[in-house]
Amino acid sequence: MNNLIDIKNLTKQDIAQLFLMADKIKSNSKKKNRKILRGKTVANLFFENSTRTLVSFELAAKRLGAHVVNLNLAKSSTAKGESLKDTIQTLQAMDINAFVVRHSQNHVGKEIQQWLNPEIKIINAGDGNNQHPTQALLDTYTILQHKKKIEDLKIAIIGDVKHSRVANSLIDILHTLGNQKIHLYGPKVLLPKQSDKGIICQSMNEVLGNADVIVMLRIQKERITDNSVPNMKDYHQNFGLNRTTLALANHGCIVMHPGPINREVEISSEIADNTPSVILEQVANGVLIRQAILATLLQKS
Ligand code: CP
Repeated sequence: MNNLIDIKNLTKQDIAQLFLMADKIKSNSKKKNRKILRGKTVANLFFENSTRTLVSFELAAKRLGAHVVNLNLAKSSTAKGESLKDTIQTLQAMDINAFVVRHSQNHVGKEIQQWLNPEIKIINAGDGNNQHPTQALLDTYTILQHKKKIEDLKIAIIGDVKHSRVANSLIDILHTLGNQKIHLYGPKVLLPKQSDKGIICQSMNEVLGNADVIVMLRIQKERITDNSVPNMKDYHQNFGLNRTTLALANHGCIVMHPGPINREVEISSEIADNTPSVILEQVANGVLIRQAILATLLQKS
């Protein structure tokens, strides 16, 4: 593993090694972890808003002993018209070892790779509606803390699947790990056309019946450019998770959401804030998984 731009580039073995690294970092003392990336510098470049991903990358790098630069885009020379290429190459000249990039442009990581020396690492923190590979890894790691085997789980993904990079990369990693039981549901305009993404369901009954893992998604209004935003008035009634709809799923199922959540829209507070929600476990695992990614990419560079 040389960079982390697309989750499809990781093999089953790469994923297993990252999870072992996360376990090791979790069991290490804080002092031991602080030596792992001593002398390295990580730059966080977030051209789109973030709470979880940005803060967890900063904490992950610092807890491994690296220096961290969080470029404040609003106050940077990007606001004066500096191009992405010039921004990246300017920072490269200051001896950055890894760039963590979130951007609205799909596949921006590949483009950035062409401008950088090969030893400098790139980590995709979300590109357009394409990929969010670190989220896919932390979601899978969280599932495996609750369920023994990934292959046979019925996984229900509900909401705006079409515009969701979280759904895209989660579906890709689940396929790599041998799961073909992904069920999708949401307003028709927010579902993908391709059947290779999962089984498109026709009702909450169908998607939730016997589900082991439920992943709720918010509507990505910022990515909807046509007039396909569904009627929000009836959204929760038709597509929301609450005590009544959760009862359709398997006893022992877990409820996930990548955040940020819209309470009483895709998920009710009574579900988000109580068992079987693992939403805050996802957040905690986000730091650990990002530590494992940084350690794996940078330890030998
Ligand atoms: N899940 C996620 O990417 O959250 P943020 O946008 O807060 O980083």
